Amino acid sequence: MYIPRYCPIDRLVSDRVRRTRSMPYPLDECPSKLRFYSHARYALDGAVAALELGPGDTVLLPAFVCPVVATPFRARNITVRFFEVSSRGTALIEDAIRKADASTKALVLVDYFGFPQPSQEEFGQFCTERGIWLIRNCAHAFLSTLDNTPVGVVGDLVVFSFRKTLGVPDGAALVLNRPGLTLSSHAYRYDVCWQLGGTTARLVQAVQSRLGVGPIKWEPRLSSFRPFHSAMSPLTRALLPRIDFQWVADQRRANFAAWLGLLGSSGPCRPLHGSLPEGVVPLVFPAVVDDPDLAVTVLRRAGSYAARMWRSLPDSASRVEFPEAAWLADRVVALPVHQGVSPRQIDALASLLRDRLGRSDRDG
Ligand SMILES: Cc1ncc(COP(=O)(O)O)c(C=O)c1O
Repeated sequence: MYIPRYCPIDRLVSDRVRRTRSMPYPLDECPSKLRFYSHARYALDGAVAALELGPGDTVLLPAFVCPVVATPFRARNITVRFFEVSSRGTALIEDAIRKADASTKALVLVDYFGFPQPSQEEFGQFCTERGIWLIRNCAHAFLSTLDNTPVGVVGDLVVFSFRKTLGVPDGAALVLNRPGLTLSSHAYRYDVCWQLGGTTARLVQAVQSRLGVGPIKWEPRLSSFRPFHSAMSPLTRALLPRIDFQWVADQRRANFAAWLGLLGSSGPCRPLHGSLPEGVVPLVFPAVVDDPDLAVTVLRRAGSYAARMWRSLPDSASRVEFPEAAWLADRVVALPVHQGVSPRQIDALASLLRDRLGRSDRDG
C-alpha cells in the first residue's frame, strides 16, 4: 500500500469535464479581490500587507493551530496573542473577547479540517463591533460550504490552500472581501527551488502510487517563512482549470464516511466529529487517539500518510493557559481521506488500527 499525504497528481486532472464545469469559490471571484500565492502562509502575509499591520499591533490566533500560521505575523514584528479552542475544535469567542484590547487589529479564525466554525457569525459581529479585521483561515476548507454558501464569505480577508485539498504542487489564495482593501504595491517572486522540488516530489509520488510502494515522508522541506510574496507556480495555474472539483469533493466525503462507519465512537481511535454535515469537504479525518504516536507509526509502516495535528501548541501558548487546545494537540491524528485513497484501503487501515491500538508494544 502507498498513500501519500496529498492526492497523487496524475489522479487529479480530468479532460472529460474540462469544458462543462464552472470554477468554485474563490476561483470564480472577481480578479480585483483575489491574489494567488504559493502557500497559505504567504497568503496570510498578503493579508498583513493589505491591512498594513506592523510593530505595535496585535493579532489574535487560536491556540490550536499549525505553528507556521504565526510566522508571517512574527516576521513583521506583530504581537501574536492566543485564544482558547474547545476540545471539539470550536474557537471560543468568550476567550477571544477577553484577550482583545486596543492594540488588537486582526483575529484569525481557522476552519479546522474543512469544518466551518460554528460561531462564525458571532466572531464576525464581535470583530465588526470592535473594529477588528476578521481573517478567515480556510486553508483546510477549500470547497466546503455551509447552507449552500462557501465557507469564507464571513470574513474580511480569507485565505485558501489549493495544494492541501487538491494535491497540486503549490497554490493558495487571499480574498479581499472588504471594499477599499488593496495590494497594489505587491511584487511577486517565484520560489523556484521549492517549486521544482515540490513538483518533482508530486511526480515521484504519482509513480510510487502506481507501483504501490514508496517512502511516505519523501517531501522537500519548505522553509517556514521567507519575507517575500511567493507566487503560485505556472504549473498550478495550468492545472486548476482542468480539475473536476465535484469529484474531489465527493471522493473526500465518501472516504470520510467510510472512516466514520469503521471507527467506533468510543474506542482508542475515535472520530473528533461524529457526523459529516452537508457541504463539508474534509481535508483529513481527524481522529482522537489515546496513543497518537503509536497510531502514526503503525499507519506509516503500513505505507499510509498519518500525522499528529499539531503535537504541540505554537510557541508562547502555554498548556496551562490553554488546556483544551493542549488536549487536542495531545490526541488528534489526521487520517487520509483524499481522492487518491480507496474505501478498500481505508478498510485495511481501520482494521490495522483496531488490531494494534489495543497493544502496548510499539515495535512488534
Ligand atoms: C490552518 C493552517 N493554515 C495555514 C497553514 C499553512 O499552509 P501552507 O503550508 O500552505 O503555507 C497550515 C499548515 O498546514 C494550516 O494547517
